[in-house]
Amino acid sequence: STTIIRTVLQMRQWRRQCLLQNKTVGFVPTMGALHMGHCHLVKNSLAENDKTVVSIFVNPSQFAPHEDLDAYPRTLDRDLKMLETMFPEKQVDAVYVPETREMYPSGIVLEVEDQKGAFVNVKGCSEGLEGAHRPAFFRGVATVVTKLLNVVLPERVYFGQKDAQQCVVVKNLVRDLLIDTEVKVLETHREANGLAMLSRNEYLSPEVKDQAALIYKGLCAAKELYITQLESGAGAVPSKDILDSIKTIYSTMPSLWEVEYVAVSHPDTLEDLDSVDLAVGALISTAVRVPRGDSGVARLIDNVQLSPK
Ligand code: PAJ
Repeated sequence: STTIIRTVLQMRQWRRQCLLQNKTVGFVPTMGALHMGHCHLVKNSLAENDKTVVSIFVNPSQFAPHEDLDAYPRTLDRDLKMLETMFPEKQVDAVYVPETREMYPSGIVLEVEDQKGAFVNVKGCSEGLEGAHRPAFFRGVATVVTKLLNVVLPERVYFGQKDAQQCVVVKNLVRDLLIDTEVKVLETHREANGLAMLSRNEYLSPEVKDQAALIYKGLCAAKELYITQLESGAGAVPSKDILDSIKTIYSTMPSLWEVEYVAVSHPDTLEDLDSVDLAVGALISTAVRVPRGDSGVARLIDNVQLSPK
């Protein structure tokens, strides 16, 4: 059965037991409100490791003061039930539910300038795209992921391609800070209409969810264009052509929706590309602001990878 772990000490003791028994550990960090996207990561961890730890922690340092930290869904009982029923044959071994006090011994306040203590900054790849619209976000993610990895010490850690920039930031972090773990990235899990599944989906009306299929549809048009070029033997595709193919589809979005960015980026550095070299490929990513049921605004992000030849 699954062990619920709430303290760093307990987590470390549990980890030491695995080491003594020569068991490998896979780790899936989450903020809870689990859905099929998370389960997909868990499933892979269960298959590739002797033991699997899932963490559930709504990390305050990755929320800006105006964001939804207090309103973020907290559904621990439902999450535990979901893990139990999804994987009846091989259970998740431990669910780590840290306390904010222990994760942030120096305390935590929402205003970045007022924070005390140690934080992790991954320069470069965290600055564009999402980082440009959410300035302290990746600092918060990199910090909490470092802390969690220091406690869990997993052989493998699992992330979803839905948050493509987060994956790049974590890979750089693990490499630069010499953290001894393998970062695994798994493909985006989608609703039937193509919308990338997300914890904040509960905020969206059925109508908006329907229309939001356009976001992925646009990205797929870009991918088709790229594949056609690839097959025609071209050496590179201008980013402008890729962006135009997306804009044609996004021009049919409801008028209140706001496309924050659509970007063609280098797959590893996330630098902006003028054209996509077919030997390198690219990441095409977007963020769209859509109205929420409660008159607020939700940001939907999505991406596709253009694979190199
Ligand atoms: P959270 O949004 O809960 O996501 C946890 C993990 O699930 C992330 O790696 C995310 O990319 C993955 N995920 C979410 N939706 C997915 C989908 N539709 N398909 C595939 N994977 C999906 O991302 C975070 O939490 C936090 O930033 C965290 C890494 C836990 C640090 O606080």
